[in-house]
Amino acid sequence: MKKLAARRFSISMDAELVGQLDDLVQDKGYANRSQAVADMVRDHLVEHHAEVGAHEIAGTVTLVYDHHKPDLQAALTDVQHDHQELIIATLHVHLDHHNCLEVLALRGRADQVKQVANQLTAVKGVKHGKLTVTTTGKEFAH
Ligand code: NI
Repeated sequence: MKKLAARRFSISMDAELVGQLDDLVQDKGYANRSQAVADMVRDHLVEHHAEVGAHEIAGTVTLVYDHHKPDLQAALTDVQHDHQELIIATLHVHLDHHNCLEVLALRGRADQVKQVANQLTAVKGVKHGKLTVTTTGKEFAH
């Protein structure tokens, strides 16, 4: 997306809320309110885009599972082979003797990314699975 010049506009909100915003700006180390509010808007847009099925998003699926569980790893691999076009990278860490941590990077239509994430986290024996949605970066100038 072409970067446009910054536009100034005024927002009116409760004084207490402004005070809390200023605390947040300080706690998170933002240079100013504008930067903090812009980050919030982008974060909200990312969430919103993920709700629109046809929108292209990126995301990561984090899975923790015991690789000794019968058929579990094969089931996870099956899902991944069925969706090669969406899964662009994987990271596998052997956490301990039993537990594996797997992180998969996905990119594609929001509805398809969510469907694959659900399939992976629903595999029997997965102890924890979570999709984190982000942007492909194309819709934000910076
Ligand atoms: Ni492992």
